[in-house]
Amino acid sequence: MRSRPVRFITFEGAEGAGKSTQIRRLEARLLALGQPVLTVREPGGTPLGERLRQLLKEASPGWTICPESELFLFLASRAQVVRQAIGPALRENLWVLSDRFSDSTLAYQGGGRGFAQPLLRSLNEMACAGLAPGLTFVLDISAPEGAARIARRGPESAKEDRIESEPREFFERVRSVYRELARLEPDRVRIVDAERSPEEVAAEIWEIVSHVFGL
Ligand SMILES: Nc1ncnc2c1ncn2[C@@H]1O[C@H](COP(=O)(O)OP(=O)(O)OP(=O)(O)O)[C@@H](O)[C@H]1O
Ligand SMILES: [Mg+2]
Repeated sequence: MRSRPVRFITFEGAEGAGKSTQIRRLEARLLALGQPVLTVREPGGTPLGERLRQLLKEASPGWTICPESELFLFLASRAQVVRQAIGPALRENLWVLSDRFSDSTLAYQGGGRGFAQPLLRSLNEMACAGLAPGLTFVLDISAPEGAARIARRGPESAKEDRIESEPREFFERVRSVYRELARLEPDRVRIVDAERSPEEVAAEIWEIVSHVFGL
């Protein structure tokens, strides 16, 4: 029998797909079973990562980040959160849930910005120190629907950050890389239709988690 995958679950997908909403629900469900959980987000999850997050999201006039710098800043945040938070938590037998992780680099810097996948994979490997998620949910939503959800989140959150202001084609390329990842690694990467109610999406996620981890 195949051994159970590492209890490290990542959530991926477009802005507004419902990643944060679903992570909160899964975390609550695991906690209710008495299972300790660490939840982190990317970029972020450490003091350094949170500072990098601010830099990466800023969208003020004259603030420029070239694609290469952007890539390295995301990787710097990941290298730190792996060593400072995720690795130690897994060694202490916590579940780890991450709001975005290495597949975001493949989707956004690969599909979106056009960096070659093999290059991104070797950089990811260095950043992740050999750590890979046991299960990844890609919350699949059309770019306009995701944008509409963000707009409904309120005026402060509706202000576009640096990446959210990319054109529609950028997000279509991101979406197609996620689909390709699911095709390449069907056991790990699960596409979930995110254009349903939060309850329906959470129910499917829970069904998969309980099946994969034998809960
Ligand atoms: N299934 C759903 N149907 C309708 N609205 C939803 C659904 N899931 C989440 N929402 C709402 O849509 C908005 C975006 O959800 P959420 O913040 O969870 O997305 P996200 O993927 O974390 O976005 P971001 O990439 O910006 O962090 C929130 O206002 C949330 O309450
Ligand atoms: Mg979020």
